[in-house]
Amino acid sequence: MQIPISIVGAGPGALDLLTRRAEDLLRRADVLIWTDSLINPEITEIVPAYCEKIPTSSLTLEEILALLIEKNQEGKKVIRLHDGDPCLYGAISEQICGLLEAGIDFEIIPGVSAYQATAATLKRELTIPGVVQTIILTRASGRTGIPKKECLQSLAAHQASLCLYLSARHVEESQKILLEHYPEETPVAISYRISWPDEWLTIVPLKEMASTSREKKLIRTTLYLISPALRETQKRSKLYSPEHHHLFRPNE
Ligand SMILES: C[S@@+](CC[C@H](N)C(=O)[O-])C[C@H]1O[C@@H](n2cnc3c(N)ncnc32)[C@H](O)[C@@H]1O
Repeated sequence: MQIPISIVGAGPGALDLLTRRAEDLLRRADVLIWTDSLINPEITEIVPAYCEKIPTSSLTLEEILALLIEKNQEGKKVIRLHDGDPCLYGAISEQICGLLEAGIDFEIIPGVSAYQATAATLKRELTIPGVVQTIILTRASGRTGIPKKECLQSLAAHQASLCLYLSARHVEESQKILLEHYPEETPVAISYRISWPDEWLTIVPLKEMASTSREKKLIRTTLYLISPALRETQKRSKLYSPEHHHLFRPNE
């Protein structure tokens, strides 16, 4: 019987932010094919000593697919390890297509994404009743481009909690667009290598998002979280209000 390839989310960096399922799989891996440019090497240390470790930062899709297929066909347990959650900016879709074409079974194990680790480290909720109820995960239009109907102008118009991935190189342009819709004092969390030993995290007003990034020379592994939910004082929710009754706290 063919063993499925596991496409596994490594989380944002810290070893103890791996899921139990991810850790169990890594501890049984015969072959680890991992995005070395984005994953904390400490995570790759938990595989067995016999496990073959193959970094992918210098490989093409064709080379990665050939390796996945070859090692799987040798009957080995293959782990394809991606940072954060693999379904977000992981370029796994093209790998999935290749595996489907080759008739190779696979599974996907979710991981903690950078925006979740950032909100948790800040000790903040991103969906506060009466303030903001929507989270947008997006990126600046770099070399990859963005479909026109998803341009930052239109997303910013919602003034939702907006998470900008892969955008440090485009921060000036992003700030300019965001300021067309969000007040200039809107809090922005700038999160660099969150959960890594050298993590750096700060909250600045939107008008200082670009200058702070420049001062800190941020280019990679940076997430921007723009949100009215990051303001210091917030209203309380109905959920735990004594006046609010529901199935589990009926008005008796
Ligand atoms: C290729 S994308 C992958 C995103 C990943 N799949 C996730 O769910 O977090 C890489 C981008 O994710 C963000 N990122 C990933 N890990 C991060 C971390 N530890 N701290 C801050 N941002 C991070 C940055 O915006 C970075 O440019």
